[in-house]
Amino acid sequence: MQVIRTIAAFKAARRARAGSLGFVPTMGYLHQGHLALVRRCRAENDATAVSIFVNPTQFSPQEDLARYPRDEERDLRLLREVGTDLVFLPPPEEVYPPGFNTWVEVLGVTERLEGAHRPGHFRGVATVVAKLFNIVEPTRAYFGQKDAQQVVVIQKLVADLTMNLEVVVCPTVREPDGLAMSSRNVYLDPEQRRAALVLFRALELARTLYAGGERSADRIRARMTHLIQEEPRARIDYISLADPRTLGELSEIRGGVLVSLAVRIGATRLIDNVVLGVEQ
Ligand code: PAF
Repeated sequence: MQVIRTIAAFKAARRARAGSLGFVPTMGYLHQGHLALVRRCRAENDATAVSIFVNPTQFSPQEDLARYPRDEERDLRLLREVGTDLVFLPPPEEVYPPGFNTWVEVLGVTERLEGAHRPGHFRGVATVVAKLFNIVEPTRAYFGQKDAQQVVVIQKLVADLTMNLEVVVCPTVREPDGLAMSSRNVYLDPEQRRAALVLFRALELARTLYAGGERSADRIRARMTHLIQEEPRARIDYISLADPRTLGELSEIRGGVLVSLAVRIGATRLIDNVVLGVEQ
C-alpha cells in the first residue's frame, strides 16, 4: 500500500497504473461503512485508491472541524488489512494552497435538507470532490447512501460537468441494532447512543406505514415527528419525504420517496434515510 501526501506524487503513481482504478473518498476515522465501500471497490476494479482528508471547506464556522475525530494510524492499518493500493493523505495546504479561489457549486438539489441547514456545505463537498477526481482520475467512485443528498449532488456534478467516471452508490451499513454507522457516533455517551436509535425507529415506522399502503407524506411525516418527540434527548432539525431525484418535498407519494431526517442528540447531529418504492 502506497501512502502519498502530495498531488504530484499521487499523479505519478496513478500514471504508473494501467487498468481500472476505483476510488473511495473519505474524511478518515474509518468504520465498517467505509470498509464496505473499499471492499466493493476492490471487487469491481483492478486497483483501489482511498483518500483521507478532513475537508475544512465543508464545515461552517459553527461546526465541529477542530473536534472532528482523526486517527491516521488506525485508518492506515484498516486500509492495509482490507487491501488498498493507494492512499492519498494530503495536508490542507496541498489541497487549498494560498490563493485558492475556485469553487464548484451545484444549484437546486443543494438548496434543501442538509444544504438548507448547513450553508456552504455542498459547495465545499463539490469543490473538494471535483478536485479529488482530477487528481485521482478514477474509473469509478464509491459513495454511501447514508449521505443521500451528497450522492444526488455528486451524481449531478458528474453529469453536468461530463466527468469521465461512474458513481457507485452503496447501501448504508448499520450497527446490529439499526443505528447507521457514522464517524460522529463516537461523540455519543451510552444514554445518547440509546436515544440515537430513534432515527432508525422513525425510518422503520415510515417503511411500515408505506408498506401498509399509506401514501400521504404529510401523515407519515407527522407520525415520525411524534415518535421522535417522545425521545427527550432528541431535537429534530428536519424530517423530509422528498422526490429521490429532485429532492423536492412531497405531500402525496406517487412514485418513490426518499425519507430522510437530521436529528440532534445532545450536541451531535445525526442523519439517516431510507428510499421507499424504488428498486435499488
Ligand atoms: O462523505 C464524506 O466523507 C465527505 O463529504 C467527502 C465525500 C469525502 C468529501 O469531503
